[in-house]
Amino acid sequence: MSFTPKKWPRKLRSQVWYGGDSRDNIYHRSWMKNQGHPEDMFDGRPVIGICNTWSDLTPCNGHLRDLADRVKRGVYEAGGFPVEFPVFSVGESSLRPTAMMYRNLASMDVEEALRANPIDGVVLMVGCDKTTPALLMGAASVDLPAIVVTGGPMLNGQFRGERVGSGTALWQMSEDIKAGKMTRDDFLEAEQSMSRSAGSCNTMGTASTMASMAEALGMALSGNAAIPAVDSRRRVMAQITGRRIVDMVKDDLKPSDILTRDAFENAIRTNGAIGGSTNAVIHLLAIAGRVGIDLNLDDWDSLGRDIPTIVNLMPSGKYLMEEFFYAGGLPVVIKRLGEAGKLHKDALTVSGKNMWDEVKDAKNWNEDVILPVEKALTQQGGIAVLRGNLAPNGAVLKPSAASEHLLVHTGRAVVFEDIDDYKARIDDEDLDIDENCIMVLKNCGPKGYPGMPEVGNMGLPPKVLRKGITDMVRISDARMSGTAYGTVVLHTSPEAAAGGPLAIVRTGDIISLNVPQRSLHLDISDEEMSERLTQWKSPIEKPKSGYASLFHTHIKGADTGADFDFLIGCRGNDVGRDSH
Ligand code: FES
Repeated sequence: MSFTPKKWPRKLRSQVWYGGDSRDNIYHRSWMKNQGHPEDMFDGRPVIGICNTWSDLTPCNGHLRDLADRVKRGVYEAGGFPVEFPVFSVGESSLRPTAMMYRNLASMDVEEALRANPIDGVVLMVGCDKTTPALLMGAASVDLPAIVVTGGPMLNGQFRGERVGSGTALWQMSEDIKAGKMTRDDFLEAEQSMSRSAGSCNTMGTASTMASMAEALGMALSGNAAIPAVDSRRRVMAQITGRRIVDMVKDDLKPSDILTRDAFENAIRTNGAIGGSTNAVIHLLAIAGRVGIDLNLDDWDSLGRDIPTIVNLMPSGKYLMEEFFYAGGLPVVIKRLGEAGKLHKDALTVSGKNMWDEVKDAKNWNEDVILPVEKALTQQGGIAVLRGNLAPNGAVLKPSAASEHLLVHTGRAVVFEDIDDYKARIDDEDLDIDENCIMVLKNCGPKGYPGMPEVGNMGLPPKVLRKGITDMVRISDARMSGTAYGTVVLHTSPEAAAGGPLAIVRTGDIISLNVPQRSLHLDISDEEMSERLTQWKSPIEKPKSGYASLFHTHIKGADTGADFDFLIGCRGNDVGRDSH
C-alpha cells in the first residue's frame, strides 16, 4: 500500500462550476438553488454524486431511493454536498434480449455523467447483476474517488419448510415439472414464496458474487456484501458509506489507487472461496481493462485453482445469503485466504486501511455455512479455463457447480444451431439423445444472440430427466446465471457467430471434455476443421442502425471481458469547456 493522502483543504473540480463570481458560476449555482440548497453547499465542500440504479423495472434495486437517503445523511454529516442522479438501470429479470446487452451502455452513461457534472466523488448504488460491474467500469474510466454500496440480498425464500434460493429453485422446479416430480399448481404456489423482501437474489448468484467482488477488490466497505436488504444494518452501511466518500475526496483516494493487480488477484481467489458466478470472469476482465491492469483468462485458472470453496451457499451448496451474513459474511472468507497465504494483505481499500486490517478480527459464527477447509465443497474451487481446438481462446466451467462424474467425459454431440432451435426440439421424444451425449448450443455469444444471454445451462430433455438424470455436459458460447448449476462449459471463444470452431460442430461429432487437464477437444482432423471453417457462413445479419449496430461492431469477445473496444481504458475527469 503506497497511498499518500493529499493535503486538505484544496480546490476541488466542482469549484470550476460553483466557485467564483463569474456569470457562469452564478448560472451554475443559481439553477441548483431552485432545489432549496443553502449558499454554503457551494463553498468548496466535496460534491458527492450518488449514482443510483433505482428503477421500478429493476426490482432488485427497487429500494435504492430509500437507501440513497441514508447515503445523503452520511454525506451531510461529514460536511459534503450530496447530489443524487439516475443512470440506466440494468435489470436482469426483465430486459430483452438480455441484460448483458446493456452493461456497457450503462457504463458509458455513468462515465459521461460523472465527467460532465460538478462532482468530486461518487457513491455507486448497485444491486442487480449488471449494475455493479457497469458502475465500476464507468467510475474506473473517470477515476474520481468512488465507493460501492450494494442494496443487499433478499431474505431467504421459504416453501413448505424448505429454503427457496433465487433462480436456483426456479431452474430446479422447472426440471422437476418436466420430470413429472412437481405439478404446475405447486410451481405457481412456490412463485409466491421466492421473493419475500426487497433486495437482490439471495443465492451466491451473480449479484451476490459481484457484491463480494466489489468488497474483495477493496471498492466497498468491509462487510457490505452480505447484509440483507431489509436489515437495519444495511441502512447503517449506506450512511457510513456516505460519510466515508467525503473523506475519500479530501484524501483524493481514487479507483486507480485501489484497483491494482493485487486487488484483482484477491478478488479472483475470493471468487473461488465463495463458489462465485462465472459471470465474474467477464466483469472483472472488463473492469481491469478500464484501469489498464493486465488481467487475462488464464489468471482465473491459475489463481483460483487451489482455492477450496468454503461458502456453503446455493447453487453450489445449501444455504442462502441471509445465513452467510449471520455467519460473519465475506470478511471471514477473506481472513481465511489471508491465513492460507492466499491474500495480498496490504491491498488498499476504500476505508484507507489495507485489506488485512479490515478482516483480521472477523469471526465465523457458523461452521456449517462457512466451512472448515477440510469440509470444503470442493478443494479445487475457482473457475476452470478450458482450451483446445473447440475453444482456442478459452472457455470456462465452474467445478463447484458441476458433477464429479462428468468432469472427464467423451460423448456424441447433439447440436442446436441457436436457442430457438433448442426450444423447438428439446422436448421432442424422438430427439436422438441420451445422458451420455453432449449438448451443444451455438450463436449465443456477445454477437450471436446478441448480448450473450444466460442460456448455457439449457434444460435437459424430458426423457432423460424422467430417468432420474439431473446433469449432462453442455457446451455453448453463452453465459449461465450465477444461480444455476451443472457441468456446463460456457463462454466458448471465439464465439460461433464470429466464426469460432463451435460454429462448425455437427450432430454426431465426438467431443472430449477433461476438466483436470483443462481441455476441450472436437475429435476431427485439422484438415476437416479448416475445410468446415472455410465453408462456414455467418447466420447473423449485422444490425443496420441504432444501439444494436454499435454493439455488433464494437463488442469484444467474452475471453477479454466483452467490453466495447472504444471504452477500454481510463479517460480521466478533466472538466473540459464550459457550456456557455
Ligand atoms: Fe436481480 Fe438476481 S435478478 S439480482
